[in-house]
Amino acid sequence: MSEIIAGIDVGTTKICVLIAEVENNEGEETLHLIGTGLAATQGLEKGMVVNVPQASESIAQAVEEAELAAGLPIRNAYVGISGKHISTMTNRGVVPVSRSSGGITPHDIEQALDAARTTASKPPGREIIHTIPRRFSVDEQTGIRDPIGMHGDRLEVEAQIVLGASSSIANLVKCVHAYGVEVEDLVLEPLASGEAVLTSAERELGVVVVDIGGGTTDIAIFLEDSLWHTVVRDVGGKLFTRDVAFGLRTPLAIAEELKISHGHVLPERIAPEERVHVAGFGSQKMVAVPRRILAHILAARAEETLELILTEIKRSGYDGMLPAGMVLCGGTSLLPGLTALSQKTLQSPVRIGSPDSVHGLARQLASPAFATAVGLLLWGQRHQWRTGEERRDGDSPWDRVSRWLRNLLPG
Ligand SMILES: Nc1ncnc2c1ncn2[C@@H]1O[C@H](COP(=O)(O)OP(=O)(O)OP(=O)(O)O)[C@@H](O)[C@H]1O
Ligand SMILES: [Mg+2]
Repeated sequence: MSEIIAGIDVGTTKICVLIAEVENNEGEETLHLIGTGLAATQGLEKGMVVNVPQASESIAQAVEEAELAAGLPIRNAYVGISGKHISTMTNRGVVPVSRSSGGITPHDIEQALDAARTTASKPPGREIIHTIPRRFSVDEQTGIRDPIGMHGDRLEVEAQIVLGASSSIANLVKCVHAYGVEVEDLVLEPLASGEAVLTSAERELGVVVVDIGGGTTDIAIFLEDSLWHTVVRDVGGKLFTRDVAFGLRTPLAIAEELKISHGHVLPERIAPEERVHVAGFGSQKMVAVPRRILAHILAARAEETLELILTEIKRSGYDGMLPAGMVLCGGTSLLPGLTALSQKTLQSPVRIGSPDSVHGLARQLASPAFATAVGLLLWGQRHQWRTGEERRDGDSPWDRVSRWLRNLLPG
């Protein structure tokens, strides 16, 4: 039986469900997309569930559509989580190395990660979403990326711990459960996006991935092939739309349409005579407005957003350590001119990241807006030992744990 992986990206503006089959061609694994479901989101604000019945209904719609396309039901899925309740901390875990002739085993690493998890001073009302190893020490030797097989008495891990508010986590899980789908794993959205749009060279060298969606801007810093810092801010494309609605005195739906069809964040690139036609409220007539004005409104919000991103990068302390620059994704990254403006503001290389590592991905999905959804599948593929007992016929559960840990280790 072939393996199936499902991902549910619960975004502020859209829910995207992807179902993929893992194909194994002579030991080389590829993902083949077999089902897609998309629904407009109700019941979410700034990345978080604010109305459980509405959000459940939107998720159900998208899951149903994907299941119909795939011709099979999904029992469990990797689900993206975001929102400003997300925080990170670093902690160490130390364990004695179990005596075995083969040196340190994946089991020792699990134990060390467990120690880092259980000794973390978790504030009340918060839960651990991820414990990601950065570096290991074996006795006196520090800075080890993959200690499996090494000999020593004492194993120490330095781990990055990602936390979220228990209430937000519970609400999200409840919405997914409402349709009868089990949450295989919650995955921090920028981590998923990073899976989909970063190259291993960028992750190794130092890069920041910024997913500007509808309600949140997710920032994740990768260094030496591991996550070093992440922060979620509650600003996104909806604010751009709101500014246009206020600035041009037009309803939100028209402002959104104007932004998507005629938006630009570099007013100087727009010919002064270009006009856009803007419908007013109620019976007001259409007015022709210079497109440059629209661009000025969007540019002001883009500059503010980029300043915020820059502040967060500086606050992380890693600003001088990102030679691979910034990779932008999320729907808002489609705004024309944003790459150039970002390069100017951040004084570093910037590119747009579109997911393309899954076979059968329709052109519509190879867009930066689907980075998280595709990344959830890739995350699932990397961590698949946890799912379906029937998977990987012939492998012992131990083989799977071992492979999972190998994939998790930096480098
Ligand atoms: N071509 C475009 N130009 C400008 N903005 C766009 C374009 N296409 C989509 N957007 C904006 O992108 C935003 C949606 O992005 P995305 O689909 O990544 O968000 P989301 O995942 O639903 O939300 P979040 O991740 O913030 O919870 C909307 O605000 C939309 O207006
Ligand atoms: Mg998103």
